[in-house]
This record gives sequence, C-alpha cells and structure tokens, in this order.
Amino acid sequence: MIPLMKNAFLNEHETKKALAEFIMTADKLSMDVQCAKFEQEFAKKQGRKDAILFNSGGSANLAMIQSLKNMGKLQDGDQVGFSALTWSTNTMPIIQLGLVPVAIDCELDTLNISSKQLLRCLEQTEIKALFLTNVLGFVDDIWEVQNICNERGIILIEDNCESLGTETKYGKAGNFSLGSSFSFFVAHHMSTIEGGMICTDDEDFGEMLRIVRANGWDRNLTAKQQSKWRKKYNIKSEFEAKYTFYDLGFNFRPTEITGFLGLFQLQYLDSNIQTRQKNYLEIETEILANDDFIGLRHDHIDVLSTFAVPVVCKTPELRELYLSQFSGAGIEIRPMIAGNMQNQPFYNKYVKTLYDLPNSDFLHTNGFYCGNYPELTFNDIETFKSALQKI
Ligand SMILES: Cc1ncc(COP(=O)(O)O)c(C=O)c1O
Repeated sequence: MIPLMKNAFLNEHETKKALAEFIMTADKLSMDVQCAKFEQEFAKKQGRKDAILFNSGGSANLAMIQSLKNMGKLQDGDQVGFSALTWSTNTMPIIQLGLVPVAIDCELDTLNISSKQLLRCLEQTEIKALFLTNVLGFVDDIWEVQNICNERGIILIEDNCESLGTETKYGKAGNFSLGSSFSFFVAHHMSTIEGGMICTDDEDFGEMLRIVRANGWDRNLTAKQQSKWRKKYNIKSEFEAKYTFYDLGFNFRPTEITGFLGLFQLQYLDSNIQTRQKNYLEIETEILANDDFIGLRHDHIDVLSTFAVPVVCKTPELRELYLSQFSGAGIEIRPMIAGNMQNQPFYNKYVKTLYDLPNSDFLHTNGFYCGNYPELTFNDIETFKSALQKI
C-alpha cells in the first residue's frame, strides 16, 4: 500500500522524540511563547509582516471572513467569489457568515482560477471579495487576478492551505492578498497534527484576527492596540478588560504543542518542498507521455511545491480504468478535491444561484490525485509511473 501520507511529521522519529521531551518539561501548554515564536518565524519565512496561528486551516478561513465582517469590509448578503474547485471549509464560511458564494471556474491545465475566468465571472455578476484557493500547489496568473481585484476594489484573500512554498516570479503563493490561510494538518507540507496560520501585511486585519481567534477579547493584542480598544469602549481597569468582548469571535486558539511542532517542522520545510518538486517532475514524465491525460502547465511557476500528484483523464471512462489501475497497484487515491463545489450536497441546500462551470465539472468526473511526500521511495515512484502507463 502507498498511502496518501506515510508519517504524521517530516523526520518523524526526531520530531516525536523532541515533542515528548517538550511536553515533559514545558510549564505551560496553552497558547503562549512557542506559538508566538512560531508566528514570527513563519511570517519571516513567508515574507509577510505578521502571522497568526490557529487550531486548523478551516478555522483560519472562518476567522478571515469573520474579521472582514467585523471590520465592516463585508456586509450580510454581499457576494463573495471563490474557486469552485476547492475544499469544503473554504466555501462553508462564506455561507455560515451570511454571505452569498459565487463559484468561479478554473483552468483545466492549471486547476486554478485565472484572470480570464475571473473576468468571465465579472461579466455575469458583481463580487465584493474573492476567496481564491491556490489548488494542490499550483497557481494560474494570480498576479493578474490581483491586478484586477486592485483595479475594481475587490478584496482578495487566499486559501493557501495546499500551496505552502510555491513561488512565481511575482512572489510566493499566499502573498498576493490581504490575508492567506495555511493548514498544518497531517499530510500538508508541514504538520502540527492539527493547525493553521494566517499571514498578512495589514496591521488592522492582524489585530482583528487576534480578537476573532480568542473569544472577541483584547488579551493577545499589543499594549497600544489594547489601549485603543479600551479607550473606545471606556474600559477603565485591567479587571474589567479581562472579560470585555469587543466583537464576534470564536475559540480557535492553538496550543503550545502546535507552536512547538510548527517551529520544529519549519527546519525541514525547504528540503521537503524540494523533494516534492523532484518527485512530481519525475512522475509527470509519465503523465506527459500518455495521451489519455491532460498535462498540467507550470512553466510560470518557479518553485512547484505540490501537495499531491493530480491526474486529469480525458474521459470519465478513462478515469475508471486508471482508478482501478491505481487501486490494483495499492496506491491510495482521492477525487480532485471537492470537484465542482456546486455539486456538493450542502451547497444546494443553501445556495440558490448556480453558475455554468464546464472545467470544474470536467475535473469532477475526470480527475483524481495520489500522495506526494518526501518519504516516497524509488520503488513507490516507479509504481506510480507504471500505474500511469497507457492501458
Ligand atoms: C484548500 C483547503 N482549505 C482548507 C483546508 C482545511 O484545512 P484543515 O484541515 O487544517 O482545517 C484544506 C484541507 O485540506 C484545504 O485543502
């Protein structure tokens, strides 16, 4: 069996040993200095001013939308565009927080929203914000998407949970927007078991995200930020401030275990990304040599930090054949994320306006993926390659 992911951590043994030692000696295990240090190191690594650690990527997504609402940048009923090919908890927060999702199609050969697809959507309807997903380590012309959003006053946020480390000549995936989320769930580029992060360069957004992350209070803000909120609401004492709740929030706090693991895993991230890219390029030779598949384009991507190996078959019948070839070879496989999100049961329950999205439909019926991670052996990669040979 070649599973989607073999280990919980990069360098599993060293990480578990260090974690056991940390737990035995740590004075405090709820959110504290390890989390703060991981935030600083992650922001530095990503090249952003600020990073806010969460207990999952999904809660980071919910917190971004809640923060935009708290800040008055989004109002009930506003339309928010999103990548139709994405993960459930990218789309669900839009619905949960009283906004109207507008599904946007992707390009077949990059799996991602392009400027062309965004313009096609804007010909049909208006959106106040775009929650773009960088899908499976790929991006399309995201810098052009950013330009369109800037020109038209559309708030851009990125779900970068699947693309930590991907780089174009215009910058890193996750750095094109007001804020971007990351996931550290097992099987992502680095793992803290469960965990998520939001990166931003915007001080006000970072401040609101910290309020939203913990109950709506000000305890995790800087002294200057605290005094601003306390003055505004006439909170006179530290005693009163302890239980003053300024705006809508959740408890999405990580633990010191999340912080410790994040810092520890960060040291292995670069070599993990390099190995993922090397594995992908090796396996891709077989995809490109087989005309049953549509090859993915990535000549605009300098570092391709793939999350998995996506395979796009030309017909649903071919997908059936290759799925059984993969299963027969003991390779664990998954659908192409949620396919066209509009076809998911929850979506139809809550959303009335559906859009014509031929490419997402195509990927829904013709796509699948298998894992890509540094522990893949030479034999695993050869098994992938033989399963991709023409039937
Ligand atoms: C695009 C995307 N967004 C959000 C998430 C949610 O992350 P988490 O599992 O950490 O909640 C995932 C999870 O795989 C994802 O792929």
